[in-house]
Amino acid sequence: MRLDSASRWSLDDIPYDKIEIGLARQDPYLLYLIAAASFVEITSDLYSRNLISYFETQPALQQWLRSRWAPEEVQHGEALKRYVLTVWPSFDWESAYADFYREYMQFCKPELLGPTQALELVARCVVETGTATFYTALSRFTQEPVLAKLADLIRQDEVRHYHRFYHDFLALVTADGVGRLAVSRTLWERLAEVDQEDAYYAFKHVFLSVNPEKTFDKRQYQAFRRHYAPLFQQYFPYRTAANMFVKPLRLNRSVQRLSTRGLATGAEWAFRFLSQKGWLRRA
Ligand SMILES: [Fe+2]
Ligand SMILES: [Fe+2]
Repeated sequence: MRLDSASRWSLDDIPYDKIEIGLARQDPYLLYLIAAASFVEITSDLYSRNLISYFETQPALQQWLRSRWAPEEVQHGEALKRYVLTVWPSFDWESAYADFYREYMQFCKPELLGPTQALELVARCVVETGTATFYTALSRFTQEPVLAKLADLIRQDEVRHYHRFYHDFLALVTADGVGRLAVSRTLWERLAEVDQEDAYYAFKHVFLSVNPEKTFDKRQYQAFRRHYAPLFQQYFPYRTAANMFVKPLRLNRSVQRLSTRGLATGAEWAFRFLSQKGWLRRA
């Protein structure tokens, strides 16, 4: 079933019957990673309502959010959920998700959206940069071919979302009177916020569902991140991430090339340094 006629792929395009289940189960944390991602993606449904009402003066953007963006994000969650339930059929996805949703809802309020529409679109670009680069790394490092294919299909959607948000940002930025300083502040604020609540709570509720006899604390989440840190370090598309990140600053081409190169190198060094020190919290 296609969730939206405009979607470029559907769950029927994913060969779930060809998953190399033994290979997927070899990674002791893969269930946590994929189930947590499915929780966050499916919750876009709730978030999209806030976003659609926030952009009430932009009917074309609202229409795209309603008919394309939200169904595609939910489809990402549904596709990952089916992957989880194919490989780990005993995982109680519904009940773990219900617990996650209850806790996460308190962070998902319209007043947390940007002070202007243009700045909210900058924030959207940062989020799509995060998801696009996450799925790029996942599709590169996973040994399991069906997951690699699924991650790559999701990555392509996230890149398209980025371009649409960026396009609307360009259309609004002048009218909104938003300068480079405000854009760069939003970029850095959103970068600092990335992965604050959603990934943490998603992991927590997967963990509690898998280990009902244990109590949850931050150390389990840190162990999970330490497990993936070397893989993300090796396969993360630093250049692409830096390029997408600085694009809303609308620098001229040579400055953008220089800052992209500097940012990519800086991010890679920071990644190596922090992961070696064991301080890295963000996988
Ligand atoms: Fe997504
Ligand atoms: Fe997206």
